[in-house]
Amino acid sequence: MEYLIKQYPLETGALEIQYIEEYFGEFPRRKTAREILARLENRSSLILMAEAPLQDDPGSLVPVSYKIVHELRPDETEPKLHDLVARLRGHISFEAHRVLYSWIGGTRRDWRGQGHFRALSEECESWAIASGFDQIVVKTKNRFYDMRAALAQLHFDVVKFETNALDNADSKVYLAKQLIADMVRGHRSIRTVVQAE
Ligand SMILES: CC(C)(COP(=O)(O)OP(=O)(O)OC[C@H]1O[C@@H](n2cnc3c(N)ncnc32)[C@H](O)[C@@H]1OP(=O)(O)O)[C@@H](O)C(=O)NCCC(=O)NCCS
Repeated sequence: MEYLIKQYPLETGALEIQYIEEYFGEFPRRKTAREILARLENRSSLILMAEAPLQDDPGSLVPVSYKIVHELRPDETEPKLHDLVARLRGHISFEAHRVLYSWIGGTRRDWRGQGHFRALSEECESWAIASGFDQIVVKTKNRFYDMRAALAQLHFDVVKFETNALDNADSKVYLAKQLIADMVRGHRSIRTVVQAE
């Protein structure tokens, strides 16, 4: 299977992500275009979306999977990112390493298990290596079993576990993957990437 991936510029991408997040009824906290713009402006980032045919209308392509990654600097001042960096200190090396944060992503239910997320993740890795990043970090929760399984398959290692005393299912899991130029040769997905306007 060949995956079709669209790479979006900031403003259009923020609107597209807001739109696709509306299909994720399982997560109550959806990101708005305004939030996405505020987070990504003035930092290196990548907005990717995979498109695939509708099951009952194979001639129509629809967005089915998405991913936003962005740079994470040691001196972040925005409160959420400042907090994230503080929690990662001692577990991730920020010194002399460029860190990429895998912020949000997912695949619409009907298209899961078809490799779209792997294709987006591999495209991210290629871009990140070409852009000079050294590692990707990601945060999830114990109860996001699908995401934990996917991250394991994509060879992310757990670097920190933060227990939630009230409910262990809500405990936070931080994972990371070192980026090395050679890893691109091990990528499994065949991808066509087009630039959206
Ligand atoms: C996690 C998620 C993104 C995976 O998307 P997907 O498009 O189905 O993933 P892929 O088909 O590309 O699978 C990637 C790899 O993970 C594995 N994988 C994915 N979901 C899995 C599951 N539920 N159980 C076991 N393995 C799984 C696949 O087998 C595949 O491995 P392989 O390529 O080595 O064969 C999707 O299930 C999702 O959007 N879930 C909800 C999002 C979420 O949990 N968000 C929480 C906030 S972090």
